[in-house]
Amino acid sequence: MRSARGFLLSAGVAMMLAGTSHVHAGGTVEVLHWWTSGGEARAVGELKQSFEDQGGTWIDSPIAGGGGDAAMTALRARVVAGNPPTAVQLKGPGIQEWAVEGAVADVEDVAAAEGWDDVLPPALAEIMKFDGKYVAAPVNIHRVDWIWANPELLAQVDADVPTSWDEFNTTAEKLMEAGITPLAHGGQPWQDATVFEVVALGLGGADFFRAALVELDMDALNSDTMIQVFDQMRKMRSYVDPGFSGRDWNLATSMVMNGEAAFQIMGDWAKGEFLAGGKVPGEDFLCAPAPGNAFILNSDSFVMFNVRGDDRIEGQQVLASLIMSPEFQETFNLAKGSIPARVDVSLDAFDICAQRSHDDLTAAIAADTLVPSMAHEMAVSRSVRGEFLDVVTEHFNSDMSSQEAVDRLVAAIQRAM
Ligand code: BGC
Repeated sequence: MRSARGFLLSAGVAMMLAGTSHVHAGGTVEVLHWWTSGGEARAVGELKQSFEDQGGTWIDSPIAGGGGDAAMTALRARVVAGNPPTAVQLKGPGIQEWAVEGAVADVEDVAAAEGWDDVLPPALAEIMKFDGKYVAAPVNIHRVDWIWANPELLAQVDADVPTSWDEFNTTAEKLMEAGITPLAHGGQPWQDATVFEVVALGLGGADFFRAALVELDMDALNSDTMIQVFDQMRKMRSYVDPGFSGRDWNLATSMVMNGEAAFQIMGDWAKGEFLAGGKVPGEDFLCAPAPGNAFILNSDSFVMFNVRGDDRIEGQQVLASLIMSPEFQETFNLAKGSIPARVDVSLDAFDICAQRSHDDLTAAIAADTLVPSMAHEMAVSRSVRGEFLDVVTEHFNSDMSSQEAVDRLVAAIQRAM
């Protein structure tokens, strides 16, 4: 791969030869992503615009489907066909899985020249590297364990955002008595798993979460705590409206926004949705950490795939550099609902939810209660995650007992390991 300096020189030469600033100094990137909701589209629009402002050509390949499952299927097909996209929204162990297959390219020249190691949390930097070289650039830090709430509906039953699952249940009962749907939910496997892992954190704490959902410890998976987690999931099922099945997550967010439901359990991409709807945190909607006193980490990144042609390789280098620039990390994350991946970007321009996220992240790192999201592909391989999703969704949509769910989960994880 060419060095960053080589690239800058060649781009300069190309501009001189063309005598115009409209040459593709930034190269070309085809970007595969799943950011198609209102808030997500706004955020990825910032990236496209910045890339084009640098003279690059952006080919957009959005694959709709929250959580990215459809995008990952499309990616597999593209790589198998020998025609990978230039850059892909991809994260966690998935990065390593593709790297092991020899499908990714590194941007180590850019990373070394710009000192990425000095400005990223070490745990995040490790995820972005393969064989000691950066193959991905992180755009953000999302938190999964949030409760989003409609303050007017809570006021109607004289309740605050709950701080334990018992309190959540009491408030949900009150809301139902008042004819209000407690929980806005979209019945899709990744959304079921999002609620499941947030409940698991709240009932078991960070150590249980880590043992069961990250280390796949059989004692933790096969425990009374896991039974309680499924008991709570059964309760959650009774708090959703009849139309929940298959609903997209952003439509569930709209229900909270429009006063059709009191709560949503979702990562802070939901905030991007509220903001895109012109809503103000602390006034029109509330954000509060879900019970657990920890932090479930989900970080989006763009992985560079092995592509041919100088134009595309230049595009990857420009994109990587752009993603990691402090200005971009601010603008993008203001729209996305997340906080910057870089530790040196000021949060002055960010709202109370982002400030809370940052403070809790710092506290969680200090207390060793930072855990990677299973539902959002930060913790385990795709196949293991798939087993969790199958059991959680089947349980949610049937009258399966908690004991049977635990038995199935244990058997499925054992098979997948
Ligand atoms: C991604 C977010 C995205 C959300 C819903 C998560 O897995 O990390 O960036 O907004 O899915 O699509």
